Amino acid sequence: MSHSPESKTAEVPDWDAQYRLSRPPWESGVAAGELVRVLDEGLLRPSTTLELGCGTGADAVCLAQHGFDVTAVESSPTALERARGRAQAQGALIQFVLDDVFEFGRTCGPFELVYDAGFYHFMRQTDLERLLDLLWRVTRPGSYYFVLAGSTGETAEGGPPQVSEDDLRMELGRLFQFVHLRPCRMESPRRARGYLAWSCLMQRPDLGV
Ligand SMILES: C[S@@+](CC[C@H](N)C(=O)[O-])C[C@H]1O[C@@H](n2cnc3c(N)ncnc32)[C@H](O)[C@@H]1O
Repeated sequence: MSHSPESKTAEVPDWDAQYRLSRPPWESGVAAGELVRVLDEGLLRPSTTLELGCGTGADAVCLAQHGFDVTAVESSPTALERARGRAQAQGALIQFVLDDVFEFGRTCGPFELVYDAGFYHFMRQTDLERLLDLLWRVTRPGSYYFVLAGSTGETAEGGPPQVSEDDLRMELGRLFQFVHLRPCRMESPRRARGYLAWSCLMQRPDLGV
């Protein structure tokens, strides 16, 4: 599948088929460079972490290797099987959950960090309110939400859905305060220089009530 362009009528992809039939365009096989950068900068401290749509697990493994207590949820059985294999091969302890994260989020406890590479930029097209409801349930005041999302600003045939800064601020600013919002690149096996993206670190405010 190509990453679909932004569209309010976007079809829900058959996620598992993307993994079974080909190598998806987001499947770089290594941890996101921007995640590694943020960890190297010490912007995130080891904490209980929920990853939304972990794919084949390279970022979950990276977080676990940096001391994070990771719960990684994924609805594609094929992707999750590969993620488990990757974690085992690299000796990373991760709680993997094969589930619809919207269902999982109804019963799991709040996390100190929610991490999402490429989940928000798809879900906002069809399920923004549901995603915000999920984020509210799985965080508490003081929790962080770190998102990597495709950005407007370059013509990128076959790239990820693109989100403008204004839309991102308006949508996620309903729940979170922005700690940083900066451009980065998202790696892809289809394009050596990757795609323009947002690195967005947010914190849920403590309103003191
Ligand atoms: C764009 S991919 C990103 C995967 C991974 N984060 C990465 O960067 O390689 C989005 C992922 O979310 C998963 N996904 C989509 N809807 C989901 C849902 N409702 N619950 C759990 N995972 C879901 C898909 O199967 C897919 O692996």
